[in-house]
Amino acid sequence: MEVPKIKVLDEKEKILRTVSKEVTFPLSEKDKKLIYDSIKFLELSQDDEVAQKYHLRPGMGLAFVQMGIPKRIFVIANKDEDTGKFETHIVINPEIISQSEELIYVGEGEGCLSVNRCVEGIVPRYARVTVKYNDIEGNLQTIRVREEIAIAFQHEIDHLNGILFVDRIDKKDPYKNKDQMREL
Ligand code: NI
Repeated sequence: MEVPKIKVLDEKEKILRTVSKEVTFPLSEKDKKLIYDSIKFLELSQDDEVAQKYHLRPGMGLAFVQMGIPKRIFVIANKDEDTGKFETHIVINPEIISQSEELIYVGEGEGCLSVNRCVEGIVPRYARVTVKYNDIEGNLQTIRVREEIAIAFQHEIDHLNGILFVDRIDKKDPYKNKDQMREL
């Protein structure tokens, strides 16, 4: 077992505030490799033993820009605690085409591999979103995601637009409108 060598940039890096560029196809072999390495990295980061040994913070999503490459690509790997299996997504050039009215937020607070500090407050997210995107071969796909996967998609799409979750927390009132949203 080898952990892919991936360096995740910290929020102080200016590139994280830029808008990533649309991707054209076919992808280079280098980009494809980085996609699969990123998924492997996220999966291993959610393994307690590996995470401890290699000092990894657990993460379920990673955008290319967090590795210093401002392309509109992100990956998600979410472990199903019951089966131990991963649900993975490779998402390129995403666009939210519809969203629920209902808003949700992560009760314990959202996290990000680029934000290495504790941030309190609510990040309002749509409970469900429909996203149009390209898969790794460039084919157009549409997916409807909900709950924590919907939050992950919105968090990662924000990265592609230079937005970090901390930007969505009201500075003066971090728990603003809490009672109008459902806690996850
Ligand atoms: Ni993040």
